[in-house]
Amino acid sequence: MTHTITLIPGDGIGPEVTGAVLRILAATGVSFEWDRHEAGLPAFERTGKALPAELIASIRRTRIALKGPVTTPIGEGFTSVNVGLRKALDLYANLRPVWNLPGIAGRFQGVDLVIVRENTEDLYAGLEHEVIPGVVESLKIITERASTRIARFAFDYAVRHGRKKVTAIHKANIMKLSDGLFLECARTSARDYPTIAYDETIVDAACMHLVMTPEKFDVLVMPNLYGDIVSDLCAGLVGGLGVVGAANLGADSAVFEAVHGSAPDIAGKNLANPTALLLSAVMMLRHLDEPAAADRVMSALGRVLGAGQVRTRDLGGSASTSEFADALCTAIEQAGTAERT
Ligand code: NAI
Repeated sequence: MTHTITLIPGDGIGPEVTGAVLRILAATGVSFEWDRHEAGLPAFERTGKALPAELIASIRRTRIALKGPVTTPIGEGFTSVNVGLRKALDLYANLRPVWNLPGIAGRFQGVDLVIVRENTEDLYAGLEHEVIPGVVESLKIITERASTRIARFAFDYAVRHGRKKVTAIHKANIMKLSDGLFLECARTSARDYPTIAYDETIVDAACMHLVMTPEKFDVLVMPNLYGDIVSDLCAGLVGGLGVVGAANLGADSAVFEAVHGSAPDIAGKNLANPTALLLSAVMMLRHLDEPAAADRVMSALGRVLGAGQVRTRDLGGSASTSEFADALCTAIEQAGTAERT
């Protein structure tokens, strides 16, 4: 069977890491047809729209996209393509599993946690205005519907993946109404999942505990802004943004993307590490019900990183993006040959 997937190579290092991942996916033998679309600056310059309607239509059709990073101008210019995509397709759950990869010296070993971030509201609703000159207001939107939906997603994920505990992260001591509602929805949802333990931690304390005893956390569910910050903090526990994958999931479609940005400082130099996008692609393979291919990629990644000979610069090596992709393709093909003989 051929899987038709929308491909957004993105900009900056996007085309380099997506190119590498496409080669690695091809080595698994799974058949893909890629429907390529521009987004962000190149699309804006060509069509006046950073998030073209054809791109949204393509994902509505294929229901799955693999996405490279897209630059967002700071303080001016078009609004974030990433936020726009999540809103247009109602990709309400951002899922980031964080664990140690073989041979990668993170600050901690034994980390195995999952961040579930609400993706559609909170301060990311983009509702900002100037009240009077010198005073601006940014609205934090929290709804019962979105909070319950993300809480149930976290508990369902915990049940499906044999997890033991869900921790709700909040600041309801200060934002009693907004985070208070989020927490109330998490508590109410927890009652329907008696096999999963439930607890709550204030976001600042959670950050301290995460950088001291990350192994004590399991599934964490939180509103959008805390999720954005805490998930990067967690990536830092295991080696950084280059080694953590992510998925944006909705009821109808899913967009798999790396957690890092377009890295303009190294773009076009064949230096970027494609591992984060590859981990997102592995999540995509599982979503497509291709578990054998997903396992093959993970096993090859473990062997290449574990051997320590071929690594990109961010992981202390000297390999280029394409050399790293070559090593992975070879590892996947060798494993396939060994299986057949
Ligand atoms: P960044 O993640 O692009 O870069 C931060 C640092 O990490 C840089 O030193 C970069 O060289 C390094 N880095 C990132 N990915 C790497 C990789 N795969 N291999 C090796 N090194 C890597 O974050 P920054 O600089 O804050 O953002 C740049 C642009 O990316 C901004 O316009 C931002 O809005 C956008 N962005 C897009 C995202 C997306 O499309 N999902 C997510 C985060 C940021």
